[in-house]
Amino acid sequence: MNKRYSLDEYIALINQKLDSCLPACSYGEPVVLEAMKYSLMNGGKRIRPILTLEFCRMCGGDIDDALAFACAIEMIHTYSLIHDDLPCMDNDTMRRGKPSCHVAYGESYALLAGDALLTYAFEYATKSALALTDPQCAVEAIKILSSCAGVSGMIGGQVVDLKSEGKSVSLDTLQTMDSLKTGALIKAAALMGTVIGKGSPEQKEAAVRYAENLGQAFQIVDDILDVTADEAVLGKPVGSDKESGKSTYVSLLGLEKSQRIADELTQQAIQSLDAFQDNGFLIELTKSLASRKN
Ligand code: IPE
Ligand code: IPE
Ligand code: MG
Ligand code: MG
Ligand code: MG
Repeated sequence: MNKRYSLDEYIALINQKLDSCLPACSYGEPVVLEAMKYSLMNGGKRIRPILTLEFCRMCGGDIDDALAFACAIEMIHTYSLIHDDLPCMDNDTMRRGKPSCHVAYGESYALLAGDALLTYAFEYATKSALALTDPQCAVEAIKILSSCAGVSGMIGGQVVDLKSEGKSVSLDTLQTMDSLKTGALIKAAALMGTVIGKGSPEQKEAAVRYAENLGQAFQIVDDILDVTADEAVLGKPVGSDKESGKSTYVSLLGLEKSQRIADELTQQAIQSLDAFQDNGFLIELTKSLASRKN
């Protein structure tokens, strides 16, 4: 059985790697590099990279092989948050307990910092892939990462989100939106872990099922927190969805029913983990996300 890691150990490992992996060169103009670091090394629960590492470990893989992909997904997630906060998107001025990137650095540099994190994620993953003993797995992981982040994944979901502003949309549309804007990166995180860890086809399928359920639950809880959370704990504005006229599970079904659905989806996600031995850490983490406070 592979060595187990605690949540704190995973977070420390990911933060250390993220801190050391950004490029050093900025051609004498460090502003965009600073903005990238400001947003990346700024708290964050690190759920997606933890999923990549833990799925790899549960499949019997070496988490060192998955670390670059874990960092890459966190860079892409961070870029999505920088852009999501821009005035032309959700127009939110606080993120991870500090002024949003565009508030601290201005819109142009925030836009570029997001672009640079997205691009560097692929540069870094590809560079690390070449050092792996099985580059074929690495290519598969990069393919998963790019398709889940793109127009058929996270970006597609953000488009549905923007198009739905000010409208009361159906539950079906909400499900599609959430599974894309949030579920897609969670799916990429889990699936890349099983690919690098050389999991069986059944384990890959189970990881996808897990991520589909967790992705929905994760966004529903995010929508609940937008109404119920303490802003100082949440680290981002409360009440932002209502102000922007967003359709969410909460606006459609109310708080109680939304939490019930999130709990059911969490249970379904946990059931998929039967395909893995030594799944105790992930069961506990998944449960804790349904009642998280930020
Ligand atoms: C926030 O993601 C955006 C959503 C997809 C709901 P997280 O809740 O994972 O944010 P951080 O990374 O911890 O800041
Ligand atoms: C975010 O959804 C999904 C992304 C792709 C960033 P939200 O807009 O609800 O995320 P928060 O609440 O701003 O973190
Ligand atoms: Mg948004
Ligand atoms: Mg937002
Ligand atoms: Mg939200």
